[in-house]
Formats: sequence, structure tokens, C-alpha cells
Amino acid sequence: MDYAALAQKYGTPLYIYDFDHMARQYQILKEAFGARKSLLAYAIKANSNLSVIRHFARLGAGADCVSLGEIKRAQLAGVPKYKIIFSGMGKRDDEIAGALKADILFVNVESEAELGRVEAIAEQMGVVARVSVRVNPDIDPKTHPYISTGLKENKFGVSIEAARGMYLRIKNSAHLEATGIHFHIGSQLTELDPILEATDRVADLLRSLKALELEGLRFFDVGGGLGITYKEESPIDAKAYAEGIYQRIKDLDMTILCEPGRFLTGAAGHFLTRVLYEKRSGDKRFVVVDGAMNDLLRPTLYKAYHRIEIVGKESQGPLADVVGPVCESGDYFAKEVPLPETAHDDLMVIHSAGAYGFVMSSNYNSRRRAAEVAIEAGSDRLIRPRESYEQLWQSELEWMQTP
Ligand code: LLP
Repeated sequence: MDYAALAQKYGTPLYIYDFDHMARQYQILKEAFGARKSLLAYAIKANSNLSVIRHFARLGAGADCVSLGEIKRAQLAGVPKYKIIFSGMGKRDDEIAGALKADILFVNVESEAELGRVEAIAEQMGVVARVSVRVNPDIDPKTHPYISTGLKENKFGVSIEAARGMYLRIKNSAHLEATGIHFHIGSQLTELDPILEATDRVADLLRSLKALELEGLRFFDVGGGLGITYKEESPIDAKAYAEGIYQRIKDLDMTILCEPGRFLTGAAGHFLTRVLYEKRSGDKRFVVVDGAMNDLLRPTLYKAYHRIEIVGKESQGPLADVVGPVCESGDYFAKEVPLPETAHDDLMVIHSAGAYGFVMSSNYNSRRRAAEVAIEAGSDRLIRPRESYEQLWQSELEWMQTP
């Protein structure tokens, strides 16, 4: 990848996405499920640029959405409504109504109370809501506690017992139809066993629901969570994953639905930033760059590791902290990493930034959000320009009143 040319053309900080890598990741997972009935619903929260969503939609992917905003993005990008699902902890009434109006595949319900709202809204609208219940299988996914979701102390989903009661309620409702069953135990998972154990528990629940004769119940949604290599992690083998799940539910004649986010976009993304200065305070060495925590929050928020490269230089050198211009001590990309001596304007690449990168960025310190570029079949194109200063305040300007 010609980082210098891209920096010259689009400026920094810049997100660069390799669309061919994304397509390969999609194919790897799709092929792992083989000829079996499966739907990959891309978790668009990982990277919701419209061009990225459209890229996956063209390959056949659906969209896993967690807000009405994401549903609208999926529609704009051309994801067919029958491949869109709506998950998420706290859905507002207008979001539920919006999802029902959009006639999407199903709404993933996270609590008994939410099921009640979906039913009431469907009744008001005179429609039948297709739903799935998110089961919390109470399994330790062995990932970072901030991104672990399938333990009973986590806020997500309902217990197996509660889910049973909810399916009974759905069966007895004129405005609800059970379409799926769902779990998602966490993100950046690198161990297969917890996923398979969760599959077992949820499959057992499903078997115990047989007597309810829920004919529309066709989707076994195993969530997302497949991890990638940031440092030395070995990711779960896609074939072993798909095969393991299939073996556990093969008696059930269900379509496997999978909601990968990071697996599809994470390693395909690179964050390009420029060195501004080197600075020493006593023994401490800082490399100050033009990107910041408002652009890529993962190091600050999760102490996440992202590999750093100075374009055209060796990766060796004295230890340094890589920091940005934001007024927070937490504004860093790496601490105590070996880096070569850098000069003003050197380019730095922060790797594996395609998932939960730009989407978690903000305008903190009135910084314009970075531009995004796609690389596909050897050519590059802008998929989101850098924000202008005017965009930063346009929605406030007309509301600014002199008292
Ligand atoms: N499905 C559900 C219900 C989810 O909550 C998530 C992610 C996914 C699918 C996609 O998970 P993935 O395949 O990307 O692991 N910001 C954090 C990750 C938060 C994940 C939230 N849920 C990070 O930067 O690591």
C-alpha cells in the first residue's frame, strides 16, 4: 500500500480500508458454512460507512443493526429488508415502530419488558412483529470484561428460564411471531469452546420448545464475536467454528445466522497519521502525532494493542509513547513501544483499525473527523471526506442567540 501517495492525496489523519481484504474475510466465513443454510448479517456497528455496508451487501450479506439509524444506513446501502435484523439493549418506541414499518427480518428482543413494548406497538400498527429472543447463556467468553456480554452479570439478554416464558408468550400473542433465537457472548473471542458451549445451551432450550410448535422459528443466531490478530492472538478457525456449531444443531433444521463485525473489517483497516514532533521529558520519549483518541479510542478505552509502523523505517528503536494533540493524559495510541527516531511529517500507520475505529470517533476538542478511503482492485477512492470546520458548528450556528 502506498501510504505516502495516499497521505499526499487525502491528507491525515486518514482511515484506509482494503475492500478486497474485507471481501476475502466474508468469503472465508461464508465458505466455512458451506452449502448449509446460513446468513451472514454484517454487524454494521463495527464500521458503518455506507460504502462498506454496500460492499458487503453486494456480496450477499445482511445487516445486524442496533439502532434505527443503523437500519436506515443498511437500507440506504441496499441491504434487502429480509436480511436486516435489529438487536440492542434499549430500543425506543419510535425505533421499534420504525423497524416494524421497515418490515425487517426480525427484532432481537433483550427483555420481557421490551417484548411487551414490541407487542403493544405491533398491535397499534395492526401488524405481526417477527421476533427473536436474546438468550444470555451465562458463559465466560474469556475476553476483555468491557466486551464480554454473555455472563449473567452482564446487562444483555435473558436467562434460559425467562426465554422459555417469553416464547410461550409469543406463541399466545396475535401480534408476535417467533422467527429466531439469539445469543452473543462477547467480542474479540479467540476461544471456540465458550461459543460451542453457548450453542449447546441454546440448542437445548430450542429442543425444549418443540412442543410449542413455533413454525416460523427458522433462525439460529449465534451472534458475532470472532476475534482477529492484533498482537499474537490466534483467531478461531472459521471452518472449525462453522462445523462445531453445525454439529450441535444439525437435528434442528435451522438457518444459521451469524453477526460478524470485527472479523470482516478489523484487519482490513489502517489508520494513517503524521508525526508532528518528538519530545523528551527526562527519560521519557513521546512521539506526538496528528491523530488522537477522538479518532481511534480503542487504546484509551480498552488498553487495546494496535501494531504501529513508521513508513519506510525499521520498527526498532528506543521506547516511546505515541500520543495525540487532545488535552487528556489518556490520549495515546501506544505506551512504551520501540520506535525508530522520527522526524516531522513522517507517516505512522496504526494497523487493524477497520473495526470500532472511525465509528467510535468524536469531535472532541473541535477536531474534524478523519477522511475515509477505500482501496479496491488496486485503486483508491474517497468514501467520506474529512469534515469541514463549518460542518462542526453548522447545526449550532443558527441556534446561537444573543440574549
Ligand atoms: N452482535 C451483537 C449483538 C453485538 O453486540 C456485537 C458487538 C456484534 C454482533 C459484533 O461483534 P464482533 O463480531 O464485531 O465482535 N467497541 C468494542 C467492541 C464492542 C462490540 C459490541 N458488540 C471494541 O472496540 O473492541
